[in-house]
Amino acid sequence: MGLSIKKLLLFTLVLFVFSCKEKEVKKEVVPEETAVSYYEEAYRPQFHFTPEKNWMNDPNGLVYHQGVYHLFYQHYPEDIVWGPMHWGHAVSKDMLHWEHKPIALYPDEHGDIFSGSAVVDVNNTSGFGTKDNPALVAIFTYHLMEGEQAGRTDFQTQGIAYSLDNGESWIKYEGNPVIGNPGIKDFRDPKVFWNEKAEMWTMLVVAGDHLQIWNSANLKDWEYVSEFGKNQGAHGGVWECPDLFPLKVDGTDEVKWVLLISINPGAPNGGNGTQYFIGDFDGKSFTSEQEQNKWVDLGRDNYAGVTYNNTPNEERIFIGWMSNWDYARDTPTEKWRSASTVPRTLSLSKINGQYELLNYPLSSFESLVDSEVVPKDILVPLDGTYEIKLTTDNQSEIRFTTAHRDFVLSLKNDSKDSLAIAMNGKGKMLNFDRRNSGLTDFKDNFATGVQEMPIDNLPEGAIEIRILLDASSIELFVNQGQYVMTNQIFPRDTYTTLEFLNTTGKELEVSAFSERSVQRIWEE
Ligand code: FRU
Repeated sequence: MGLSIKKLLLFTLVLFVFSCKEKEVKKEVVPEETAVSYYEEAYRPQFHFTPEKNWMNDPNGLVYHQGVYHLFYQHYPEDIVWGPMHWGHAVSKDMLHWEHKPIALYPDEHGDIFSGSAVVDVNNTSGFGTKDNPALVAIFTYHLMEGEQAGRTDFQTQGIAYSLDNGESWIKYEGNPVIGNPGIKDFRDPKVFWNEKAEMWTMLVVAGDHLQIWNSANLKDWEYVSEFGKNQGAHGGVWECPDLFPLKVDGTDEVKWVLLISINPGAPNGGNGTQYFIGDFDGKSFTSEQEQNKWVDLGRDNYAGVTYNNTPNEERIFIGWMSNWDYARDTPTEKWRSASTVPRTLSLSKINGQYELLNYPLSSFESLVDSEVVPKDILVPLDGTYEIKLTTDNQSEIRFTTAHRDFVLSLKNDSKDSLAIAMNGKGKMLNFDRRNSGLTDFKDNFATGVQEMPIDNLPEGAIEIRILLDASSIELFVNQGQYVMTNQIFPRDTYTTLEFLNTTGKELEVSAFSERSVQRIWEE
């Protein structure tokens, strides 16, 4: 008996060791990478740009050159939280499908590489290239962490780098920084463009609570020319990521200049947001008569957006960072963090006598959308509801038109998550409620209240509502981008039902309703 207990113990021990070995072996032969296939992790956007791994924030250096749209971005390649900044890099031929490239700009002795822009130096003003092979020049902020940590205020300066092989490799200019710090703590995010009025390069750079404008003949020597905004616009936080460009007012020959200024915090729905000013630019100074504060997007997740330089047909194309500094470091993704908005065309309209900046997905985005679906008309009974089963697995475009202004549209799933968009025509307000939309408790300020978007200047009659729904975001465009809300969401399952609740006080007519799937942009 004694022997058989010993034998049993020995047998159990052998079994234990063997099973441990087996576990070890299994662990070795199933590499982590194969556990989830490429770009299929939980909450991984399918038709929005995201880095393969680790942290991303602002889009940088948006420029078109020799058939390629470049997208550089604020990137920390070692973690999924913000850290010493590099410029990550991706390229595209259509701004829909992206190819990842090696990191373009690394920190150096002047500091980490913060946000900025890129230009094609067509006339070789810098002497970096030749007229036949003009240089791509990146203009960015150096952020010297040691300086900040030492409590100094002069740790942000502006530097440049150039590429002679369309962005494949970069050389930092030996004369960096090209603009030193004038004693301003927040002095960053240079946007450079060719200024036809002055026949010079113009740099916009933010200086705490205002914009500074500098001009240069060669991208290396800069002269301060003017400032804007100390007493205009919203000032609830520091000004960041400026942009300035002309746009023709739709249907006229009138040209107005549009200034974009991101601000953190101080956006109406909390945290960061991007305001715009309509005005005039004489080659040196920007002026604006605008009294009201205006916002590109009133959702909580469209920040630091800027536009492309050098696009072939002068289209003004905008990309924003789809997050908010309030909770950007805490969102429930594991391999990477943050996405960009879909590229959007900016246009200017005069609606009811007021200038409005519209932002709306690029027309070529349609090529990703299933064109087979036949739209249908829907009648929602007085005070009643109408349910539609969704079939596209949170990878869709939902679109309809209606002349009514009072209804609630909810997206729901089997986990009892519910996201509500309520249009209140009488109150001239659109409310966006993500408080029960899925995971929200990763940070207490992610979903505290209902977001509000005044819709007080909508034209009469039927308007279009268009929604782009991806794995962890929803972009809402009202009247072709007159009013826009971009928000992150983390539903526990895909939304399977869309419900209309009729609050009009009469029958609610919804025309040309469609739910269509959007193609994934990543190849295996
Ligand atoms: C905006 C911003 C910029 C800065 C960058 C740093 O989100 O704060 O002002 O250059 O991010 O990553």
